[in-house]
Amino acid sequence: MTRLCVFASGSGSNFEAIAEGCRSGAIADSEVVLCVCDKAGAYVLERAARYGVETLVFNPKEYGSKRDFEKMIADKMDSLGVDLVCLAGYMRIIGDELLERYGGKIVNIHPALLPAFPGAHGIQDAFNYGVKVYGVTIHYVDATLDGGKIISQVAVPYEGDDIEELEAMIHAAEHKLYVETINKLRNR
Ligand code: GAR
Repeated sequence: MTRLCVFASGSGSNFEAIAEGCRSGAIADSEVVLCVCDKAGAYVLERAARYGVETLVFNPKEYGSKRDFEKMIADKMDSLGVDLVCLAGYMRIIGDELLERYGGKIVNIHPALLPAFPGAHGIQDAFNYGVKVYGVTIHYVDATLDGGKIISQVAVPYEGDDIEELEAMIHAAEHKLYVETINKLRNR
């Protein structure tokens, strides 16, 4: 079994796609063993409860430094034997402690065709720019914002002017690409 840990800060629709992928077998021989969340009350925690996934909720402000809370997270992941870390709307830059201990095993999903439109508002930024081909990127994580070698991408062509419709299309593309990509990564 490949043991996955998902980091999220918000709604957790990608968390749910991954958990459901494990349950259905679309991600073969894998399970989500931990959901790490830096926001008490985030909806992802309800989704995790529904899937019976253990959660690790923490408040970064209660720690002296990023290294301190990342040490706590990495210790927990060590104890569960985590094989692959999937960032899914975790709105923090990964620091040295996690990169030193889990480097090369951390991947992130971003709702744009990187290296264009990194950051917390990739869809809105691309929309404001007047983009005609949007997309989704999954990449290995390094110390930079939405940086690291690209693993997979999918284009989402859209020429309309309804951002909610666009967001729904991009999120659907994210869920499909994350499941397919994790399923491929676990065979590497
Ligand atoms: C997703 O669209 C993900 O790509 C984005 O946050 C959203 C989380 O949605 N991540 C970034 O923008 C990273 N820079 P979810 O909580 O419903 O999975």
